[in-house]
Amino acid sequence: MNVEEIKTVGVVGAGSMGTGIIQVAAQSGFEVKAVDVDDAACARASKAIAKILERLVAKEKITEEQKKQVLGRISFSTDVATLKGVPFLFEAVFESVDVKKAIFEKLDAICGDEVIYATNTSSLSITEMASLVKRPAKFIGMHFFNPVPVMKLVEVIPALQTGQETTDLALAMAKKLGKTAITCKDTPGFVVNRLLVPYMLDAARILEGGVASAEDIDTAMKLGCGMPMGPFELMDYTGVEISYYVGEIFHNYTKEARFAPPGLVRNMVKAGYLGKKTGKGFYDYPAK
Ligand code: 3HC
Repeated sequence: MNVEEIKTVGVVGAGSMGTGIIQVAAQSGFEVKAVDVDDAACARASKAIAKILERLVAKEKITEEQKKQVLGRISFSTDVATLKGVPFLFEAVFESVDVKKAIFEKLDAICGDEVIYATNTSSLSITEMASLVKRPAKFIGMHFFNPVPVMKLVEVIPALQTGQETTDLALAMAKKLGKTAITCKDTPGFVVNRLLVPYMLDAARILEGGVASAEDIDTAMKLGCGMPMGPFELMDYTGVEISYYVGEIFHNYTKEARFAPPGLVRNMVKAGYLGKKTGKGFYDYPAK
């Protein structure tokens, strides 16, 4: 299969990453069939995409007509069966092998032999997930970054079982979505999170140790290293629990201390201080 032959893609999971993938795929000209088991998640994703496109119209980056066309290419459903016949599926559901396994079982029951599964996992083994599906040679990791419409990178991660044609197709798909791809072996954290997660957890360690305030650490990394966000702004943005769970998974797997989440991060997750989405993380976000 050639990427130019693909007219429709599916996206399973309409959380923040799934929503971004849906938007980017529709803006790249694909018909997008989006599926989430939760009606409310579909409604949230649909509203978020409409709002972002509205902003792009206001900034005169796209026309009102283009906005309508993009929105017209997206359909949402809570029924996985709507993905029957779709040749390329992005999976962006909750980061749990059990949840992903359940989804792939459903997909395997309805999908044909040619379908490609691209998982957006940030922390799970691509090879382990490939071993759960009927056609592991057609299974690959495509890891996007938050916010998906803005971040230019996609990590393409073949499993041990992935066929070369699948890797080539994933690379072509990333390009068609306007992204720059790197390829990477199936190892904990791939490239970005292997470097980023210990960096963010280290920032929390030095905050916990009283070395400097969160504001000063953020300022240091923005003005001293040219980072667009400091580590605490970034953790609040992506969700403090993501750094925690991903750190735990990598630590359990590698036993490397640099991946171990410090007590401060663990306690924040227990307290529900997850960042922007809960109104409180390392900073406060009063409701507008
Ligand atoms: N969707 C679409 N567009 C968005 C957006 C979103 N959610 N958020 C911001 N934008 C657009 C804005 O519209 C604006 O566009 P313009 O320049 O054309 O007007 C542009 O991005 C810049 O946005 P803002 O002016 O509002 O704000 P900033 O200049 O502060 O940029 C940022 C915001 C792009 C989020 C920037 O701060 C940034 O790059 N931060 C770092 C993000 C990062 O490191 N992400 C990776 C996280 S790790 C990860 O995802 C791995 C996973 O496994 C957890």
